[in-house]
Amino acid sequence: MLVTIPDVLTAEQVRHMRSILDSADWSDGKVTAGYQAQTVKDNQQLTETHPVAQQLGEIVLNALGANPLFLSAALPLRVFPPMFNRYAGGGHFGTHVDTAVRPIGNTGFRIRTDLSCTLFLTEPSEYDGGELRIEDVYGVQSVKLPAGSMILYPSTSLHHVTPVTRGARVSSFFWLQSMVRQDAQRTLLFDLDTSIQRLAADHPEHPSTVQLTGVYHNLLRQWAEL
Ligand code: NI
Repeated sequence: MLVTIPDVLTAEQVRHMRSILDSADWSDGKVTAGYQAQTVKDNQQLTETHPVAQQLGEIVLNALGANPLFLSAALPLRVFPPMFNRYAGGGHFGTHVDTAVRPIGNTGFRIRTDLSCTLFLTEPSEYDGGELRIEDVYGVQSVKLPAGSMILYPSTSLHHVTPVTRGARVSSFFWLQSMVRQDAQRTLLFDLDTSIQRLAADHPEHPSTVQLTGVYHNLLRQWAEL
């Protein structure tokens, strides 16, 4: 399931982050890529241990922690500290799959990457190319979102970023381990939660609301791994 999370950040937050990122000391993106991905990756990045990434990553994580759509769609258990990347001058990232298990800095913790996240920090009008193309069961989905919006997609999918031929594309990217490992189960829970929210808003007294809420929580109890 691909889910767009609009307006994760306010315009003011995006401006603040861009003012810092535009003068950051970016390094070669190949350093965090696995063996196959190294051969196809051509961009710049700030890894999760870079002070700028830590400072700005906190803003991203705080915003997501208060975003009901994100929490409902991702059911996050552990979120990787956000990293940042920049594509310019033909920079691109060829077809790859994200590494399944990643250590978190020097913490001794690892996460299983269930979901991949790209939070766009540049407006589509600022650059040409730079589309995130995700190979989905329904075909290839092409994603290019407004600044401040995020795409959530299964880490199991093959994906690539097309060359940026004008301007620069700046984003935050990271992974998360979900309480619910299977994408199909997560999708069912998300659809059910969305329907319950709508029903509760339109017919607050309807007795099915509480029964369906029970079904939601009992399915989550069946499927959650903590
Ligand atoms: Ni990737």
